[in-house]
Amino acid sequence: MALVKLSTLLRGIRDNSYAIGSFNVSNMEMVMGAIRAAEELNAPIILQISEGRLSYSPLHLLGPIMIHGAKAAAVPVAVHLDHGVSMETIRLALELGFTSVMFDGSKRPIEENIAMTKEVKAMASWYGADVEGEIGCIGGAEGTYSAEELITRTEEAAYFAEETKADALAVAIGTVHGHYHGAPNLRIDRLKEIADVVSCPLVLHGGSGISPADFRRCIHNGIKKINIATSSYEAVSAHVKQISHEKEDATYFDFSSAAAAGTYENVKRHIAIFGTNGKV
Ligand code: 13P
Repeated sequence: MALVKLSTLLRGIRDNSYAIGSFNVSNMEMVMGAIRAAEELNAPIILQISEGRLSYSPLHLLGPIMIHGAKAAAVPVAVHLDHGVSMETIRLALELGFTSVMFDGSKRPIEENIAMTKEVKAMASWYGADVEGEIGCIGGAEGTYSAEELITRTEEAAYFAEETKADALAVAIGTVHGHYHGAPNLRIDRLKEIADVVSCPLVLHGGSGISPADFRRCIHNGIKKINIATSSYEAVSAHVKQISHEKEDATYFDFSSAAAAGTYENVKRHIAIFGTNGKV
């Protein structure tokens, strides 16, 4: 099918019945596992890599694998830069052919966040690509936890979306990146309020560790893109550990297959929860 734009996938969701999974990948095996899962379930997906992980997986090496994987896939696949913070990295992703980039200015004062997101939007438009912005501050790997003051304010989300014309908007509603300490306290009330006044598709970060029921509540109340990273990395590690435990003479190629299989299983499970199967 093909490499597609983020906006094509997100704007194609006409009701609140499903969301598109956006899966972080770090190597070729993870790209292969994610695409295999999407193809088997006839589901559109997004492949993404976060700027914070580029020291392990350089963008100029992994980016082309993501793009070529998407182009050869039998389902629509968007390729996205997650948590872009530097203009150099964002420009490189666009040069490589990523169909969208996130600019994460969430720790900056709102006016600065808006000004820089607009700058990224202008750059991305030149490449025909889309932009995801963030308002509020999602905790965990970003260095903080979602205390009340970090939850996205409805009026700020509306102002940010209007000013930046972002194609997708990440909101902080109580999820955190990485592991949860205790049960997540999701602010569905706030999500509902934001979705009522913002027409731009909303994004949920920190998807690992959220229950299927909570995912569905988020989707029914306006979330259109859901990011999953930690649980895929854990599934890969578990599969690699299992093969080394079960097979004393396991080779590099066994580990390579295990990495693809771990990603495949986790992506497949989430596609089914998000209701994206059969949505091509
Ligand atoms: P998790 O690592 O919690 O799944 O979060 C993923 C994410 O939001 C990437 O931006």
